[in-house]
Amino acid sequence: MKEITGATKLFGILADPIHHVKTPQRMNEHFARIGYDGVLVPLHVRADELASTLAGLRNLRNLGGLIVTVPHKTAVMDLCDEASDVARKIGAANVLRREPDGRLTAHMLDGEGFVRGLRSTGNELAGKTAYLAGAGGAANAIGFALVQAGVASLTIANRTAAKAEDLKARILDLFPQARIHIGTPDPSGHEVVVNATSLGMKEGDPLPMDVSRLEATQLVCEVIMQPENTALLQAARQRGCKVQYGAPMLACQIELMAEFLGVGAK
Ligand code: ATR
Repeated sequence: MKEITGATKLFGILADPIHHVKTPQRMNEHFARIGYDGVLVPLHVRADELASTLAGLRNLRNLGGLIVTVPHKTAVMDLCDEASDVARKIGAANVLRREPDGRLTAHMLDGEGFVRGLRSTGNELAGKTAYLAGAGGAANAIGFALVQAGVASLTIANRTAAKAEDLKARILDLFPQARIHIGTPDPSGHEVVVNATSLGMKEGDPLPMDVSRLEATQLVCEVIMQPENTALLQAARQRGCKVQYGAPMLACQIELMAEFLGVGAK
C-alpha cells in the first residue's frame, strides 16, 4: 500500500453513482508505474451539490485536479474558470485541472483518448475518410477529435438528423476547413467506421448501421467497452473488416488525463 504524506498530490473523480468507477484503480496504478507521488480517490457527489463541492475543493492546496464523469460532464462547464476550445464547443468536460491560484481549467479528452487508442494499435487517421454513427455525448467528443487528427472527411449519421447537423455546425465553427457531410445508415465508401451511439450495450439493441454495406477494406471501431464483442464488431469481422475494440481508448485516456493534470514521473 502506498504511503500517503503531506507531499502527496491529491486527485479525485466526481461521479454519481460512484461504485462502478474504475478510474481510481487505473490512475493509481499509473502513478505507481511512473513513480509519481499522487493518489486519486472516488468522490461521490450529487448533481445538486456539484457547485458547492467544487467551490470547496478548489481551496485544497494539494489538489492536482479532478476527473469528471456521469452525470457531471456538462454541468462543470458552468462551474469552471477556463475551458479549452474543444470543451467549450462540445459543452462538456471530463477533466478539471486546479491551477496554483485555485482556478479550474476544463478539458474534454474522451475523443483524444479514442484517437490515441487507435494510434496505439497502429492505426493512423490523418488523410482517411471517416464515418461516425451517433451525435450524442461520446460522438461529439470523437467527432472533434477525428477532425483534429486530420481526417480527409467526416460523415456524421444519427437517428435524429438535427443533432448531426448541430454537431457538424459546431465542428465547422472551430475547424472551418473541415469537410463534413451528413450521412445515412450506409457506412460504405469510408476507410474508418466508428460506432459512437449507445447501440450494442444491451442485448437485443438494433445495429447502429447497415452492416450489409460494410466492406472488407474498412476499419470498424467500437466505443462501447461492455460487452467487448458487440454485434457490430461480430458482423464487421464476418465481412472481413479489421476491428478496433473499445478498451484501448480507456487505457489511453488515463495517460492523457495524467498529462493534462501535470502528472510527471518523479
Ligand atoms: P452517450 O453519452 O453514450 O453518447 P447519448 O448522449 O445519450 O449517450 O447519445 C446516444 C447516441 O446513441 C445518440 O446518437 C442516439 O441517437 P439520437 O441522437 O437520435 O437519440 C443514439 N441512439 C440511442 N438509442 C438509439 C436507437 N434506438 N436508435 C438509433 N440511435 C440510437
